[in-house]
Amino acid sequence: MASTGRSKFVSIEDSYHGNSLGTMSVGASEYREDLPNLLRGCLKVKRPLDANAVDRVERLLRKRDVAAFIMEPIICNLGALVPDAQFMRGLQRLCRRYGTLLILDEVATAAGSRRQRRPCSASVTLPPRGQLPRWGGLS
Ligand SMILES: Cc1ncc(COP(=O)(O)O)c(C=O)c1O
Repeated sequence: MASTGRSKFVSIEDSYHGNSLGTMSVGASEYREDLPNLLRGCLKVKRPLDANAVDRVERLLRKRDVAAFIMEPIICNLGALVPDAQFMRGLQRLCRRYGTLLILDEVATAAGSRRQRRPCSASVTLPPRGQLPRWGGLS
């Protein structure tokens, strides 16, 4: 938020990103929790994550007020759901177009667990090594 000046976040409906206030806000579901004090401006994209979902994402991003889109490239808590390649490519294109950060939360599928050093590279095109942010041991 501080670096983008934007206050909204988008995530996948029913996904899990942790138990802090912020991560529960992006992970909250209108079908599940009724928790007080969740952060405002946390928008959700419903499944299926296919080419049609890209249009729904664009409607959320085009006002350029979304700081980040966060998702697991392989969504573990939804049964190891792998989004369509068209969705991932479209999502990356839209994030670039509208200046939204794309956060790939890879706690369970991270380095080494799929025999790839950077497993998210199966879904999206990453910047060259050295230009990647260094979070959680990934470089
Ligand atoms: C996809 C995902 N994101 C976030 C978390 C939470 O990680 P932490 O407890 O380090 O905040 C988990 C924990 O299992 C997770 O599976």
